[in-house]
Amino acid sequence: MRGANHSLICASLLLLCSGCRGVQSALDPAGREAERIALLFWWMAGGTVVIWLGVMVLTIYCVRARPESFHQRTENWIIVGGGAVLPTVVLGILLICGLAMLPGLIEPAPAGSLTLVVDGEMWWWRVNYLNSTGHSIAVANEIHLPVDETVEFKLQSDNVIHSFWVPALGGKQDMLPGRITRLALTPNRTGTLRGVCAEYCGASHALMQFDVIVESRAEFNRWLEQQARPAQPPRTTLERRGARAFVVHGCGACHSIRGTSSDGAIGPDLTHVGSRRTIGAATLQNDIDHLRHWIAHPDEVKPESRMPRFSMLPDDELQALAVYLKGLK
Ligand code: CUA
Repeated sequence: MRGANHSLICASLLLLCSGCRGVQSALDPAGREAERIALLFWWMAGGTVVIWLGVMVLTIYCVRARPESFHQRTENWIIVGGGAVLPTVVLGILLICGLAMLPGLIEPAPAGSLTLVVDGEMWWWRVNYLNSTGHSIAVANEIHLPVDETVEFKLQSDNVIHSFWVPALGGKQDMLPGRITRLALTPNRTGTLRGVCAEYCGASHALMQFDVIVESRAEFNRWLEQQARPAQPPRTTLERRGARAFVVHGCGACHSIRGTSSDGAIGPDLTHVGSRRTIGAATLQNDIDHLRHWIAHPDEVKPESRMPRFSMLPDDELQALAVYLKGLK
C-alpha cells in the first residue's frame, strides 16, 4: 500500500513537471516576452510557497500553544500584522512588479518590423505576411518567424471573438470583430511551437490551433519566397486528375490556389498546402490519408466546420484530389 502511494506521488510529480516543458508551455519560454512572464510566475510561485509555509508554521504553533501563554498585545499584533499589513505589502509589491513589466510587454514593434495580419476564422487562422512594397502573401494555420527579430501581429476577426496565443512566445491577445488589436513578439530560440485560440468561440474552439516555426533569417527568407510563388502545375496524371476534380467540384469557390482559376476567399489559401505540417488548423497530420478523410468528412474532424463534406466522391477521385493537394509544396 505504501509502495503504491509512493508510485502515485512520483507519477503525479512527473506529470506536473512534464507540464512545464513542451511546444505549448508558457513555462518553457522561447521568446523575450514569454521569459518576462515566466520570471514573474516563478517569483509569484516562490512567494506563495514561502507564505504558505509561514501560515502552516503559525497554525501548528497556535494549535499546540496553551491559550494562557498568549498576551493580548501579541494576539493583536498577529491579527493586524498577518491579516492586514502583510497582505497589503505583498499584494502591493506584486502590483508594482506587474505594472513595471507591462510597458515591455505591450510596446509596439520598431518601425519597419516584419508585419503579419492574422484573422481569426471559424475555426482556423488566416495569415497574411506584408512585405515592404505593401504586397501580402497569404498562408494559413502555420506561421514562420525569423529568430531574434521583433514581429508585429495585427489581429482581427469578422465573426466572433477569438484570442491569439502562443504560450511559449508571450501573452495572449483578443481578436475582436470591428477592431484591430496588436501584439509584438520576439522569438529568441529556433524550433517548432504551438499556438492556440484562448477564447471560447464555438464548437471547434479547442481544434483551432496553429504551428509556429522559428528559424534563422536565411531559412525564413527561403520559406517566404517559396510561399510567394504561384502554385506549381500538376506533374503526374493523378495530380492532373486531382486538379481537374478541384475545379469541377467547385472547391475554388471557397479556396484560392494562386496561378490557377481558383480564387475563393472563404476558406484557407491552398497554394502551398502540401508544404504545411498539418491540416484542419493543426488537428491532423498532413498526409494523403488524412487529406482524404478531411475532404470526405470534415464535420467528423471538426464539428460545425464550414467546409462541406464530399463523401459522395468516388474513391479514386478522392485519392486524386488528396495527391494533387499534397503535391502543392
Ligand atoms: Cu477561436 Cu476559440
